[in-house]
Amino acid sequence: LVIGLDLGTGGVRAIAVDLHGQLMAQTTKSYPLFTPHPGWTEQNPADWVEASLEALSDIAQQLGENCAIALGLSGQMHGMVPLDAEGHVIRPAILWNDQRTGKAVEAIESTISRQELIQRTGNPAITGFQLPKLVWLRTEEPQAYAQVRQILLPKDYLGYVLTGVAVTEPSDASGTGCLNLANRQWDSDILNALKMNPAWFPPVVESTAIAGRLKPEIAAHVGLPAGLPVIAGGGDNAAAAIGLGISASNLNRGSLSIGTSGVIFAPLEHPIPDPEGRVHLFCHADGGYHLLGVTLAAGGSLRWYRDTIAPQIAFADLMQLAERSQPGARGVLFLPHLAGERSPHLDPETRGAWVNLALAHSQADLIRAVLEGVAFSLREALDIIHNITPMKQLLATGGGARSSVWLKILADILQTELIAPKAEEGAAYGAAILAMVGVGVYSNLEAAFQILPQAENVVQPQKNLIYESAFQKYQQLYEALKAVR
Ligand code: XUL
Repeated sequence: LVIGLDLGTGGVRAIAVDLHGQLMAQTTKSYPLFTPHPGWTEQNPADWVEASLEALSDIAQQLGENCAIALGLSGQMHGMVPLDAEGHVIRPAILWNDQRTGKAVEAIESTISRQELIQRTGNPAITGFQLPKLVWLRTEEPQAYAQVRQILLPKDYLGYVLTGVAVTEPSDASGTGCLNLANRQWDSDILNALKMNPAWFPPVVESTAIAGRLKPEIAAHVGLPAGLPVIAGGGDNAAAAIGLGISASNLNRGSLSIGTSGVIFAPLEHPIPDPEGRVHLFCHADGGYHLLGVTLAAGGSLRWYRDTIAPQIAFADLMQLAERSQPGARGVLFLPHLAGERSPHLDPETRGAWVNLALAHSQADLIRAVLEGVAFSLREALDIIHNITPMKQLLATGGGARSSVWLKILADILQTELIAPKAEEGAAYGAAILAMVGVGVYSNLEAAFQILPQAENVVQPQKNLIYESAFQKYQQLYEALKAVR
């Protein structure tokens, strides 16, 4: 058996699968998220560790006699965990969705041009990435900064606690803003230009590499074998893609995830950025690369709707209501920028809106507009991705993909075949697959992909001129509404 662990934002999820990929045990443990100021998001790394140890104990108990042979890690990307000379956490971790680094982003881009950053790292300086957080720490918390000796990403910090060894791997490291995509190593020119010490960043190993071995005292505490190989793993998006069998060996197939955020993942063989950096370019955990289009509030927009406007209506009923409206939501458009936006605007200050409301509109039209607005936002990202790679099919995952109404809307607006996978265990599953390859159960990822369930249920796109004309209008909303912010 192999264990996969995903250190998420809401909590940690651990699973155990057998060597044929069958789920044998699973558990989740949650931890709090702190918002000490509007736009700030932090978590306590000690909470991650406590929850992860509980999750591993739970898994060990469920496995009984069955011994695990490896543990693969995955986690929320972009976060910053600063450690001092003793390896102690200096301040709470600053997370991927934190918005405090506006000035730091400007400072980085005034030192190294946006063009050069995109050329070297695949992306401009982006608010949520790790490097701007470190620049923020230097100006805003100089006392904390003076103690820094090591900077880790969330799952790599967990790996460090479990094994005593600090490493990272390219899929997560490329989300910091200072990894050189060509050689998959830290870009010391960028770090030197910003007067950051390259020695603070951990060695980069490949995603299937053994990062370290479970410390005996932790092994005894959770009930797993001492010395258990801990595999470096991947950032949550890359790991989830591995769990779906998405890699550069089939460039036609990517994924579409509708969770709190909406994410389009497109595998690439070579690192080709969007020249304007409107979609992200990261290393994949398969040795290749991938583009990532992110709509920050996808399922998050629908959840907001339910919580604030229709608290007594279940999600399934909201979907049925949306079906009573029509494609185009009778003219209502929704801009899903409730949490700012990444692709294509990279603008933490943009905000959401409904427009074109009339007395004749009903709740059905409002909900439908939300579902369509999220799809339009993802279409903007997909159009940019299509300038780089001709991906034709998307494996749909996440809570939103369980709705046939939303899947149909997404297929028609994205004009792309959507495939609902048979089983889905997300990033933890991908981490387990990486672990299997890491300890040699399968000789490479392609061989491991043979155990994945074959997808069924294909949603074919239909052309709808109403969507095309609504999309033209939708694309003007962002600029038009800037004036009234
Ligand atoms: C990707 C991103 C999120 C986090 C959430 O760029 O910010 O998907 O990885 O876990």
